[in-house]
Amino acid sequence: MWRRSKTAHPFINKRRYMNKLNFLCSAILLAGCGGNQQPVTATAETTTAIAAGLLPNPDSFRDTVDGLTTGLYFLHNGNLTAAITNYGARVVSLIVPDRNGNPTDVVLGYDSIGKYIHQPDTYFGAIVGRYGNRIGQAKFKLNGKEYTLYKNNGPNTLHGGKKGFDAVVWTARKLDTATLRLTYLSKDGEEGYPGNLNVTVIYTLDSNGLRIDYDATTDKPTVLNLTNHSYFNLNGQGSGTINNHLLQLYADHYTPVDSTLIPTGKVEPVAGTPFDFTKPTTIGGRVDDTANQQIKFGKGYDHNFMLLNSIADEPSNLPAAIATGDLSGIVMSVYTDQPGIQFYGGNFMAGTNPLKAGKTDGYRTAFCLETQHFPNSPNEPSFPSTTLKAGEKYVSWTFFKFSTK
Ligand code: GAL
Repeated sequence: MWRRSKTAHPFINKRRYMNKLNFLCSAILLAGCGGNQQPVTATAETTTAIAAGLLPNPDSFRDTVDGLTTGLYFLHNGNLTAAITNYGARVVSLIVPDRNGNPTDVVLGYDSIGKYIHQPDTYFGAIVGRYGNRIGQAKFKLNGKEYTLYKNNGPNTLHGGKKGFDAVVWTARKLDTATLRLTYLSKDGEEGYPGNLNVTVIYTLDSNGLRIDYDATTDKPTVLNLTNHSYFNLNGQGSGTINNHLLQLYADHYTPVDSTLIPTGKVEPVAGTPFDFTKPTTIGGRVDDTANQQIKFGKGYDHNFMLLNSIADEPSNLPAAIATGDLSGIVMSVYTDQPGIQFYGGNFMAGTNPLKAGKTDGYRTAFCLETQHFPNSPNEPSFPSTTLKAGEKYVSWTFFKFSTK
């Protein structure tokens, strides 16, 4: 039942050429050709894009953290531009054209490394690991041995613990104008997890979207659940509520949670509940239906959905999700080989964090679609396994594809 699709990523759609981003085509300097992080120098054109408020200034990302150099890397392909920092392997900016061709930054982020380090953690744009989402009671057993993790979320551990992959400096290398490779060695015992884990994340800006490829190997059995924690607002970051976005999830079941957001272990149908997004539906239509206990527990949407593609008898190339910005017409289709997706509707956002371009992260002004294995899988034998053995290779991919309507 839990068969996982082995399909390669199937998108080669050509998109319309849109002139308004043209100046960015030549604007992005290829940064970093060496083995470790290279400081990024802004070209005159990049400076123009920065001055226009479209890109953060790479100078603000140059720092030394834990003795390692941080920086900002730009990827470019056609009308799309991404800015990525090696602090937490985070997507800082993702600029796509709206229905009128206006460049629109669809992810939330900060304009300096200092804010990523010092603001309370929101995981903006980060690669989350070793274990994305929660592990109940911050412990699990593997091959008869119990491992104790850091409780950073009530009684549970969340998103890797005290200092997850979102808060470490990755080694970055630009492979070409559109591709950035990031690597990180998570040492045996780091945050309580067993095994030296070598992780590679490759961000590739396709002509129509951002692809993320993950791989990892370990020298001892461990558990692993990697995801990207970008917060999207398809009307543009900081442009208000996402409650009028349309969302379709290719999932007819989800995993209900207890009051601490740990899955109960059951898999329940979405039909007849506020979790039914099998047809395009506004995010806000049922988000405050507190007669539903799951909405109460999540303070809105904060749940894992079981993806149809992962349980199809044959590889089906179905998306995981399609979201549409009501004002911009920007459509984001998410594809993945993972069995689940965490739909988080920004319920903990409080408007206290200063975003790029002078915006703030108001309540429910962004959503996350985190492709993943299910939360608490190490303690839930009926869920697809998250164990990685020594000698095995973990491989996974997710593609965020953009179009307009
Ligand atoms: C989500 C998680 C939420 C919240 C958020 C970060 O992945 O499901 O409960 O912790 O990250 O604020």
